[in-house]
Amino acid sequence: MACTLETFCDDARAILRSDPGPAGVERVRRKMESLIRDGEFVEKYFHGGVEYGPRRLYVDPELGFEVLGYRAGKDRTSPAHDHGDSWALYGQVRDYTEMTEYNRLDDGSDPENAKLEVKSKYKLESGQVGTYWGSRLHSTYTPAECCYLRVTGTDLEKRPRVRIDQNTGSILK
Ligand SMILES: [Fe+2]
Repeated sequence: MACTLETFCDDARAILRSDPGPAGVERVRRKMESLIRDGEFVEKYFHGGVEYGPRRLYVDPELGFEVLGYRAGKDRTSPAHDHGDSWALYGQVRDYTEMTEYNRLDDGSDPENAKLEVKSKYKLESGQVGTYWGSRLHSTYTPAECCYLRVTGTDLEKRPRVRIDQNTGSILK
């Protein structure tokens, strides 16, 4: 059976309703792998004419999880950031995302500066989905024209989150 955005969202709702913890999110991650590898889904939501930037494709009215599609208009490196008290699944649809994960070495007492060390650096390739929990600091490099699908447990923009310039350690407001 084809995996569509609608069947994915129905499955994710059923899974997360019964298990919103790591095991449930892992089951959603595997469903998302099937979705982003489905040619019809990719053609419908990531064809060459879709707008650049983020597009909100679905918000679940009951549980609040969100599905965003993203097409990069130019190369971009994000600041290091976390996902507050939520989680995110990044599913690479086209090209790749370079992920860098960090350990925070300071004790958080300085409101303006942090000290980070790189923990790992790797590429999420087309067809792969990575899970990023709450306080796990990471930054992304996305080349122009890469496309990805992001599923988050909630609307991240409404949650307090940490953003840090990974080059200087400055905490961004
Ligand atoms: Fe993120």
